[in-house]
Amino acid sequence: MEKIIGLMGAMPDEIAPIAARMAQRAEEKIGGVTFTTGVIGGKRAVLCCAGMGKAQAAAAVQLLATHFGATHIVFSGIAGNVSGRVGVGDVIVGGEVVYHDGEPRMFAETYPHLQSFHCDEGMIAAALDACRACGVTAVRGKIATGDCFVGDRATKAAIVAKCAPDCVEMEGAAVAHIAAKNDLPCVILRAISDNADEAGFEKLVVKQFDVADYCETAARVSAALLERI
Ligand code: ADE
Repeated sequence: MEKIIGLMGAMPDEIAPIAARMAQRAEEKIGGVTFTTGVIGGKRAVLCCAGMGKAQAAAAVQLLATHFGATHIVFSGIAGNVSGRVGVGDVIVGGEVVYHDGEPRMFAETYPHLQSFHCDEGMIAAALDACRACGVTAVRGKIATGDCFVGDRATKAAIVAKCAPDCVEMEGAAVAHIAAKNDLPCVILRAISDNADEAGFEKLVVKQFDVADYCETAARVSAALLERI
């Protein structure tokens, strides 16, 4: 079966430089989301900007799976640092991905009956290798997802107490959850943009982390990753 990679992000800035690298591009808008089909890294791919948060991420994954026939799901975006194992600009490749909000025990009452999610081992290895090839420091880590931007020490401490992740973001667990529900392998890549504390906003805005710069790098990493899937 031919591989079709569903490639997604949460923000338009993350998607544009990847779209620019796609050949044989065509666009289709469904459910309020523009999907770009084409070829990147030698693979057929369907790219979309899902929007931020778990609901938008889940909806996009379902369309990638059932409308576009994606065989693999890749999410690329940014995250707040929690464990400090890596620094700003480095990448956490999700091994385990969990919800830090909601009621995972209740979510697990229906298929796939999981309270936490595991990215595909082959795709994790491919992502780590792609980062290396692009000169980006990357480690495998635990990602926690919730529908809020974490920008204060108290919230960060509560999340550490609950699930001790390496980073926090707003889509990964929903992506991995709906990928698992569709029996699709997935991987989540998160570049650290801030430290999930009071300085996080400043860091993004005062440009200690340059989102545009990282998005260019992320596009190179995505192409290198698709070559390896
Ligand atoms: N994405 C990037 N930084 C984040 C943070 N601090 N909290 C949630 N999502 C993020």
